[in-house]
Amino acid sequence: MAIDRVILVGFMGSGKSTVGRALADRLAWELIDFDDEIERAQGQTIVEIFRESGEAAFRGLEAQLTERLRDRRQAVLAPGGGWMVRTDLVDVLRPGSLIVWLRARPETLYRRHLGQGVQRPLLAGERPREAIGVILAEREQYYKKADVAVDTDGKDPATVADEIIARLAGVNHLADGEDR
Ligand code: S3P
Repeated sequence: MAIDRVILVGFMGSGKSTVGRALADRLAWELIDFDDEIERAQGQTIVEIFRESGEAAFRGLEAQLTERLRDRRQAVLAPGGGWMVRTDLVDVLRPGSLIVWLRARPETLYRRHLGQGVQRPLLAGERPREAIGVILAEREQYYKKADVAVDTDGKDPATVADEIIARLAGVNHLADGEDR
């Protein structure tokens, strides 16, 4: 089975959206950014959804979107940083996908989070740097279930995208060999 879907997972600020854009452009595949899709469908920002409906409701919307994408091919998917924790959702999309963990050091995540100017409810408290450490410690075990990990510290999105393309070519080459 050809791998014709890439799922970028990783913590908030790991670069899923920017790397996703670079990767989708190179592959001429579509980019589906989960947060953008959810905001568009709901007519509300992520912050508003968390504030007015709560985190559980947001997780429900992520689950619904995942189900809708089950058969989407030739796509780069960029779910939010909490998606990988839902292993049942990961199972829906894993067939035919290369799941890539964009790994970064906590200091890098903190710096990128500040630089992006994106509002993130889970980092909106008074101590975002500490929050990153705590949440990352909880989630790392899930991110490790990705097929490959790519270190992103000190790399620009284009470099990371090129590395992912090389990994994708590698797995598809192996799959070709199995078919013969
Ligand atoms: C979340 C990450 C966010 C967004 C929401 C929750 C998380 O997406 O989905 O604020 O639980 O890690 P990004 O990872 O794109 O920031």
